[in-house]
Amino acid sequence: MKVLVVGNGGREHAIAWRLVQDASVQVVCVPGNGGTATLPNCQNLALNQDDFEGIARFCTVNNVHLVVVGPEIPLAAGITDFLQRKNIKVFGPSQEGAQIEASKAWAKELMVAANIPTSKSAVFTDLASAKSYVEAEGAPIVIKADGLAAGKGVTVATTVAEAIAALENCFSGAFGSAGAQVVIEECLFGEEASVLALTDGETIVPLLPAQDHKRIGEGDTGENTGGMGVYAPAPVATPEIMAQVQVQVLEPAIAELKRRGIQFCGVLYAGLMITPTGEAKVIEFNCRFGDPETQAVLPLLEGPFHKLLLACAEGKLADFGPLAWKSAVSACVVAASGGYPGAYKKGLPITGIPEAQSKGSLVFHAGTTQKKDVLVSDGGRVLGVTAIAPSFDEAFGQAYEAMKSIEFEGLYYRRDIGHRVRNPQA
Ligand code: AMP
Ligand code: GLY
Repeated sequence: MKVLVVGNGGREHAIAWRLVQDASVQVVCVPGNGGTATLPNCQNLALNQDDFEGIARFCTVNNVHLVVVGPEIPLAAGITDFLQRKNIKVFGPSQEGAQIEASKAWAKELMVAANIPTSKSAVFTDLASAKSYVEAEGAPIVIKADGLAAGKGVTVATTVAEAIAALENCFSGAFGSAGAQVVIEECLFGEEASVLALTDGETIVPLLPAQDHKRIGEGDTGENTGGMGVYAPAPVATPEIMAQVQVQVLEPAIAELKRRGIQFCGVLYAGLMITPTGEAKVIEFNCRFGDPETQAVLPLLEGPFHKLLLACAEGKLADFGPLAWKSAVSACVVAASGGYPGAYKKGLPITGIPEAQSKGSLVFHAGTTQKKDVLVSDGGRVLGVTAIAPSFDEAFGQAYEAMKSIEFEGLYYRRDIGHRVRNPQA
């Protein structure tokens, strides 16, 4: 079976890597990266991910059975609708469904309509009224650009002045049209967890919960990023919480989407805050696999992954029994280019990946490309080193040991990923 994976990040490398574990699966990545280029039974295709026509033509000529869309941008631009009109099966929601991520205001309105637990919020399109609201509410308070901003459009402001600066930034065009509308939210406290659920729009099958580390700095400080490291399964999402998330979050979201005529196929990703009272509140929804969550979760999944994704695309997820998981845990640490999430260099030669792999870790490429014979960096997040082991201490120990082998100019990674589950003495 031929599967085409759209995207070029660590998430897509992990998806392609997991797909080729299934016998008889061939993968084509559009455009892929330096990691997918060297996977067995996998090739990169030099098309842009917004070239829907080119992707459709390739699928039709080459009998591609399924397209799996990694990133939110092509989903929000309607790749699924475009390909489905050409009778191509797609794992990933329609443009309407992708609004659950592409507009935070739209997602909030859906949450309120479906009675999903989330923070109090208000939406503004002008600076003056947004400022008055912030002044009336006080700090801490959260300012979010409405549209897609690669995880960087959110400011958790600890003072009113910081909140107003974030509003001024948004309305002055720092995030382009994504910041023309702003969502202001009550600040939630607790521990975060990411629950990624597979769905065909009827049946909902959550994957193991994961915990990402969004901030650039150790001790969860500094700017928000796309995610600097992750582990799974996250103990904070206990079986009781997972049951609550199924009934109070995932099922009502899918039902409300359906009520609006949206059959949501793909991943519904609930970013949660587990509050000190043990209630899971939704911080955000995404319409795709998480990055780096996928790099930690998929290595633990047993069974034929391609059949699971195809079942979602064909509306047959109910035919699938419960998922099987390795009885192990996983740890993933992201290596970023110095300066990220601000300005950073690209094209930096990378060495040491074979050595890291020989220590038993998986190295997923997040932003790399092959330049002649040299592997070079090609993004802010460059690599994700994942290790699987019986305990978090062992998994993080292995991942950090492997990371020591990797070198490129300005390499930065957080030393404290998994601090909530690691024994400080280990
Ligand atoms: P988002 O892009 O909406 O996931 O926000 C990025 C990050 O900002 C989240 O992972 C949280 O760490 C933080 N955040 C967003 N909304 C809130 C909130 N209402 N309360 C506290 N932290 C938040
Ligand atoms: N790791 C956060 C995200 O995928 O949005």
